[in-house]
Amino acid sequence: MSKSEHIPVLLNEVIEGLDLSSNDTVIDATVGGAGHAQAILEKTAPSGKLLGIDWDAKAIERAREHLKRFSNRIILKTGNYTDIKQLLYESGINKVNAILLDLGLSLDQLKDSSRGFSFQSEGPLDMRFSDQMDTTAFDIVNTWPENDLVQIFQEYGEERRAARAARNIATARSHAPINTAKDLAELVMRGAGRRGKVHPATRIFQALRIATNHELDNVKQALPNMIDMLSSEGRLAVITFHSLEDRIVKQYFKPLAKEENPRIKLINKKVIKPSREEQVKNPASRSAKLRIVEKI
Ligand SMILES: C[S@@+](CC[C@H](N)C(=O)[O-])C[C@H]1O[C@@H](n2cnc3c(N)ncnc32)[C@H](O)[C@@H]1O
Repeated sequence: MSKSEHIPVLLNEVIEGLDLSSNDTVIDATVGGAGHAQAILEKTAPSGKLLGIDWDAKAIERAREHLKRFSNRIILKTGNYTDIKQLLYESGINKVNAILLDLGLSLDQLKDSSRGFSFQSEGPLDMRFSDQMDTTAFDIVNTWPENDLVQIFQEYGEERRAARAARNIATARSHAPINTAKDLAELVMRGAGRRGKVHPATRIFQALRIATNHELDNVKQALPNMIDMLSSEGRLAVITFHSLEDRIVKQYFKPLAKEENPRIKLINKKVIKPSREEQVKNPASRSAKLRIVEKI
């Protein structure tokens, strides 16, 4: 298995924001290429523990290899972070000092053409984070009613030309199935009528990925469980990559911090974004937003 090419986003800000001490127990709920996990393990040396979760079994394999030298301090589990309570229970962990949730997909997943996440991918239109899921992006594109496509393109892609894209897909698939991510990207591109800086299929791909993996529901469901699992003064850091996710996080944290007997306090009042320098070095970080809270 090749090494991870993913560059962890807002790394210093996360490590500082989680306020880690040596020997802390930390959950990395989206361990991915394990860049954040490595820094967490270094910061919590000599005997801090890390539970790393990822839905993608390949990511867990890669993380295990990458974190080899910490093997006596880590537990890695393939699973959905929405099952965090169960995964913690199975790992025998009952006190958690910090949790990191770094949403979206890794560069390793984007570059793996068999996953169908990128426009250039000639592999199947899959887009599942986990091969345990039944429905792929292929199923959605080729079998969902046109109106449902319009709805997800609008809701999850915030795509203004949702109806036109859905119409073009419906017409194309009545002749032959739309098999690859590249086929879909070209189809949307042809129908879009104009070219700007951003590929016209960007929002359509975002919508399909969110729908395939139930991404927004996962975040909504997981946040309260994560707060529950933290010990007092434990911190939760969440990195999002688009406004729909950031809105969910913000709208969950803000009122909870304002209750009469609040369960959390906001560590950063203003959202944290990557520096210019990080954005230049790692363009994938450009849309990242970090919010951190502390359990009271
Ligand atoms: C941006 S990457 C994480 C990168 C990681 N922080 C690093 O330093 O390499 C996001 C990861 O979250 C995983 N993921 C997405 N949805 C998930 C879910 N519901 N449960 C668990 N993992 C999930 C993806 O498979 C991906 O590996």
